[in-house]
Amino acid sequence: MVQLLDGKATALQIKEEIANEVRQLTAKGMRPPHLAAVIVGNDGASQTYVANKEKSSHEVGFTSSVYRFSENTTEEELLRSIEFLNNDPDIDGFIVQLPLPKHINEQHVINAISPDKDVDGFTPINIGRMVLGEDSYVPATPMGICTLLKRYNVETAGKHCVVLGRSNIVGTPIANLLSRKGFDCTVTICHSKTKNLAEITRQADILIAAIGKPEFVTADMAKEGAVLVDVGIHRIPDETKKSGYRIIGDVKHNEVDTKCSWVTPVPGGVGPLTIVSLMENTLKAYNRHQK
Ligand code: GUN
Repeated sequence: MVQLLDGKATALQIKEEIANEVRQLTAKGMRPPHLAAVIVGNDGASQTYVANKEKSSHEVGFTSSVYRFSENTTEEELLRSIEFLNNDPDIDGFIVQLPLPKHINEQHVINAISPDKDVDGFTPINIGRMVLGEDSYVPATPMGICTLLKRYNVETAGKHCVVLGRSNIVGTPIANLLSRKGFDCTVTICHSKTKNLAEITRQADILIAAIGKPEFVTADMAKEGAVLVDVGIHRIPDETKKSGYRIIGDVKHNEVDTKCSWVTPVPGGVGPLTIVSLMENTLKAYNRHQK
């Protein structure tokens, strides 16, 4: 029988834990943690993500600010604003929502973020620390996946974990985290040049779909009893919905789920945990800054 890795319920629980901690801080007269977000342009999905981060910040009692820049902002202007955020003592952490417009070099922008305020864990320093197993800010999506696996006591030691996708944000860090002590998986990373993909994914005890293609994973690609983590978030036009769209993932859930032991639903799986992980990183940044 398939069981749900319920991201929505888990996120609610963790948010309550964070809110409690913030209430204790402010009761002592301390200021609440402050998360800032930088967004460039009008990409619909990015606007939604940033709005959700702002909403969650308020729910846990954080101060939240959003810095909005037009689509034709220059790289220099953006770098200046990052310098400002790096030096503002009232801001504990900030994120620059990706993707950025084509004329801006994303790596230049990420490299300009102070590792101390990099609550997305995207800077080379934090990624390096993570790979070395040192204390760092871990990127929110892989951190959220780890939290779900831990909170549901999913067995990982010695399991074969196949990661579909090698992005800097998800595939590469989750492969590293699950191979390390504590999770102890044997990890295979698959990507666009992988040969005999289904043959490999069928060997997965834990299959992480982070490939960015709607309903890419079909029933023939999954092993009976697999743990299935779907990182995909795609908007598909749907006139029956008030919003005009519905959200689907990287997995064809109607045919794959029944084969699995555990699955993350879409929506309500990895997504809510991603946001909550960002809140956890912000609280960590705050606690570091109070010391
Ligand atoms: N774009 C997609 N996912 C993310 C994320 O976790 N952080 C940022 N900053 N941008 C994203």
